[in-house]
Amino acid sequence: SIEKSLRPQTLGEYIGQDDVKNKLNVYIEAAKQREESLDHVLLYGPPGLGKTTLAMVIANEMAVSIRTTSGPAIDKPGDLLSLLNELQPGDVLFIDEIHRLPKVVEEMLYSAMEDFYVDIIVGQGSDAHPIHFPLPPFTLIGATTQAGVLAAPLRDRFGIVEHMNYYRVADLEDIVKRTADIFQIPILESGAHEIALRSRGTPRVANRLLKRVRDFAQVSDKTNIDLEIVKYALNKLKVDNLGLDDTDIKLLTTMIKYYDGGPVGLNTLAANIGEETDTIAEMYEPYLLQIGLLKRTARGRMVTSKAYDHLNYPMPTKHERD
Ligand code: ADE
Repeated sequence: SIEKSLRPQTLGEYIGQDDVKNKLNVYIEAAKQREESLDHVLLYGPPGLGKTTLAMVIANEMAVSIRTTSGPAIDKPGDLLSLLNELQPGDVLFIDEIHRLPKVVEEMLYSAMEDFYVDIIVGQGSDAHPIHFPLPPFTLIGATTQAGVLAAPLRDRFGIVEHMNYYRVADLEDIVKRTADIFQIPILESGAHEIALRSRGTPRVANRLLKRVRDFAQVSDKTNIDLEIVKYALNKLKVDNLGLDDTDIKLLTTMIKYYDGGPVGLNTLAANIGEETDTIAEMYEPYLLQIGLLKRTARGRMVTSKAYDHLNYPMPTKHERD
C-alpha cells in the first residue's frame, strides 16, 4: 500500500537522526561481518519520531524478520513466550512502549535477553516446576518515550541505547517533499517549508498536516501546495506558527490565567484541562520544553516569558505574582 511505502526501507532512505543512523550503520555492519545477531537496541524519545520505522529499517538492513508488539499488549509470560518461540535466529522482536510491560513479563525478558532462554513455571502448589525453554539468538528492539522510567535491570541489558531527537526543519522539509512525491502531491518549496516549521519537530505530525493541507488544496482547486494554502489550511486546523494546537494553548493559558504562570504540578494541570497526565508528559510537555515555552522547576512547571509573548498576555510584575 501507499501508506506502507511511506516508510523508508533502508538507513540510506531514512531522513535525519544522522548521529543515530551513523552509529547504527557501524553496529549493523560489524554484526553482519561476524555473522552474529545485532545487540539489543533501546530507542527512546518523544512519540512520532520514527522509532518503529527505524526498528523496521534495522531488521531490513540485517536481512531478518521483525515481530512487532507493544508493552500493554503483552499481559502474561505466556504471551511473551509465544512471541519468542516464533523467532528465527537473528530475528528482531520489537516492543513499543516497553516501559508499559507488566513486571512479571519484564523479569522474564532478563534471561531471554542475556542468555537466550526463559524458565516458565507450570503447575500449581507442590506440582509447580520450571520448564526451561532455550531460544534462538535474537535482537530485542525496545522503544519508549522516557528512558528514565525503565527499570535499571532492563535498561542495562540493552547494548545499544539511542536517543531520538526532534527533527531539524530542513529534515522535516525533506520528509514532507518525499511524502508528497509518494502521494503525487505537487508542492512548492515554500509550502513544504511552512509545514515543516509547524510540525513540532515530528515527522508523524508533518505527514498528517501534509495530508490535511492536500484536502484543502484539492477542494479549493489548487494545482499545487503553496505557502498561501498551507497558511489557510493550518489556520483552519488551529495549528499556530509554532505548531501549537488547541491543547498546547489551553495548557499554557490555564497556567497563566489560573496559576499566575506556575509553578503548578503536572497532575493538577492535567485535571484542569481534562487530559491524561501521561498524555501531557509524553506528548505535549516535551515539545513545549524544547521550544522554551515551559520550564521544569523543583516545585512544578512554569511558563516562560516567551510563552506570555507568544500568547499575547502581559508578563505580570513580581509584585502581582506574589
Ligand atoms: N517518514 C517518517 N519519518 C521518516 C524519516 N525519518 N525518514 C524518511 N521518511 C520518514
